[in-house]
Amino acid sequence: MPYCYRCPLEFPDCGTECARRVEDIVNYHTTGDVAAMIVEPILGEGGLVVPPKEYHDLVQRICKDHNIVYIADEVQTGFGRTGKMLAIEDFGIKPDIITMAKGLGAGMPIGGYITTDEIAASLESGDHFSTFGGNPVSCAVALENLSYLEDAGLVKNSKKMGDMLKKQLKEIQQSSKHIGEVRGRGLMIGIELVKDLGTKEPAVDETQSVAKGLMKSGVLIGTGGVKKNVIRLQPPLCITEEEAQKVLNLLEKEFKQL
Ligand SMILES: Cc1ncc(COP(=O)(O)O)c(C=O)c1O
Repeated sequence: MPYCYRCPLEFPDCGTECARRVEDIVNYHTTGDVAAMIVEPILGEGGLVVPPKEYHDLVQRICKDHNIVYIADEVQTGFGRTGKMLAIEDFGIKPDIITMAKGLGAGMPIGGYITTDEIAASLESGDHFSTFGGNPVSCAVALENLSYLEDAGLVKNSKKMGDMLKKQLKEIQQSSKHIGEVRGRGLMIGIELVKDLGTKEPAVDETQSVAKGLMKSGVLIGTGGVKKNVIRLQPPLCITEEEAQKVLNLLEKEFKQL
């Protein structure tokens, strides 16, 4: 996956080398007969990393050239989280399969996928089987939830609140010695903390300390990233400006204390 903040190459001069490596992996590390590739449009657990648009374009083309089914995993990005109904809308890609879950049920257990007619036709009754699959209550809630997201303007709110949070976090970053990068789309924002802006050494303890500080004030935030030094802001899509400002004030206080 691309990770521009920690990549030794500079985008866009790099020519999106990370995507080209995917083709090397197919050619040299597999039999060449790859069934599918699963890609998160924006990395969730991996640290809220937003790939350049070119990455998805190239990877999709590589998959097509090698007859590999391209699966976009929208379980975490799906349904308004990134300021669009689905994150792929921002990248202009057309996956063969899209998986979805969390934001589909808004708390009710449900998972699903959308696919092409051709792939759907390859499944026969009983091929895809699950104890609780097709639960009518979950399905009814998911349909209602999708309507509510649109009717209540929550996708727009995700973009508006996300832009506001990101803008102000970038201002806070100017006077911080520990904020390496602020990134994300909509209400899927990552703040990567480092011990030193030059060496980019991951600030793991500091990340935990910020999360604990906010918890004491009644605000729960996530932490993650491959190096465990990313603060994850993924609030409910109905967050108000007042609530977002409260989180910003608390974060600013914690960053000053670091
Ligand atoms: C990107 C992504 N895909 C898949 C999953 C797993 O989803 P589920 O528990 O619905 O199978 C998660 C869970 O955190 C996720 O973040």
